[in-house]
Amino acid sequence: MKCKVCNGEMHKVIDFGKMPIANGFLNRKDFDNEYFYNMSTAVCKRCFMFQLIDQPSKEMMFNDSYAFFTHTSKSMIKHFENFFDTVNSLFLNKINNPFIVEIGSNDGSTLVNFKKNNLDHLGVEPSKNVADYSKNINNINTLNNFFDLDVSKTIKQKYRNADLIFATNVFCHIPYVHSIIEGVKYLLKDEGVFIFEDPYLGDVLNKTTFDQIYDEHFFLFSLTSAINLFDSHNMKIFKVEKQDTHGGSMRYYVSKDVNKKIEDSVDNYLEIEKNMQIDNLQIYNNFRDNCEIFKTNFRDFLLDIKKKGKSIAGYAATSKSTTILNYCNIDNNTIDHIYDTTPIKINKYSPGTHIPILDHRDLYKKLPDYLLLFAYNHEKEILNKEQKFISLGGKWITYVPEIKII
Ligand code: TYD
Ligand code: ZN
Repeated sequence: MKCKVCNGEMHKVIDFGKMPIANGFLNRKDFDNEYFYNMSTAVCKRCFMFQLIDQPSKEMMFNDSYAFFTHTSKSMIKHFENFFDTVNSLFLNKINNPFIVEIGSNDGSTLVNFKKNNLDHLGVEPSKNVADYSKNINNINTLNNFFDLDVSKTIKQKYRNADLIFATNVFCHIPYVHSIIEGVKYLLKDEGVFIFEDPYLGDVLNKTTFDQIYDEHFFLFSLTSAINLFDSHNMKIFKVEKQDTHGGSMRYYVSKDVNKKIEDSVDNYLEIEKNMQIDNLQIYNNFRDNCEIFKTNFRDFLLDIKKKGKSIAGYAATSKSTTILNYCNIDNNTIDHIYDTTPIKINKYSPGTHIPILDHRDLYKKLPDYLLLFAYNHEKEILNKEQKFISLGGKWITYVPEIKII
């Protein structure tokens, strides 16, 4: 059990037990052949990277029936519009005819903003169904492949060096992180910028949002561990920006120029991490204890409602819900079904726990007493959209930052 980043010794944090593929929504006929792996986590005692110990193969997770489409959330669409405005005003509008590469471009929801501004771009996306959506619906120049050093060589040959490379909610998915960084370094212009943004470890530890841990999230970055990682490639994180998305994320700006001026935001967050003792193994032990306490409290809370003869349905069949449902052993004895907007998930069953996924438009056909909000990161958007549920007497349950009825 060695660190995937620095080969250092690791400290085991928590073993969540047997887990299915988080986005592996399945048909009834496939129940008996469902794939499980052991989901266990550790933190490196040397570089403090928080990581999974094992991960299913990349083809098990990213293939022609990948179930996550970025465009299912209006607030994420808005977030990526803002992302474009930010990078455009910081860098792109100062460059003549820039070339932009996105790693893990999903359905093209982010690159459309670059395309609208007639910018030369390429999306690299391994899952064929979302890559096809990106090409055919969003007209994005898309390469259906996993990004790594070899692929970056092909891109450079066919196109040119990139001014901006970015990856949102993607970089943390990939255990062979060194090949990705070598690819980025190879493809990026000397004065170019690499940006990645991912769920932030500080939020996960502080809010016990362990549901951010699943097969696809191989790493949970802190600024401390990310700096250690990029230092080993002679690259500099020169700016960070905290984001509200996914229950708390961090955006990191990276340069090939080792003399690049480091902005105050980096020192500020390093100080915050020092104060929370991100380099002290005790906080990871506390996190483990908090996960176990959550499990008991969450189960008791839901079972109490059931004992009163009330019905509970889930809202949004997120990847995160796979972790929470499987770890807390909650199945369709407790939750009747989960409503969702994603066509590929509807009429299938939740991974591991086999709760039916229904079309969100059917919610009002048979109203549950309670709706358990699995997409707490989209709380505003969803509560706003489903005001009718409350007016008809329904109640929402959320569990971040604490288990409660809204
Ligand atoms: P997200 O939190 O981004 O998922 P993940 O945990 O997989 O990163 O939520 C996306 C899911 O939520 C997706 O299955 C669609 C669903 N959803 C709804 O059903 N209704 C909504 O209004 C929103 C915003 C999302
Ligand atoms: Zn390490």
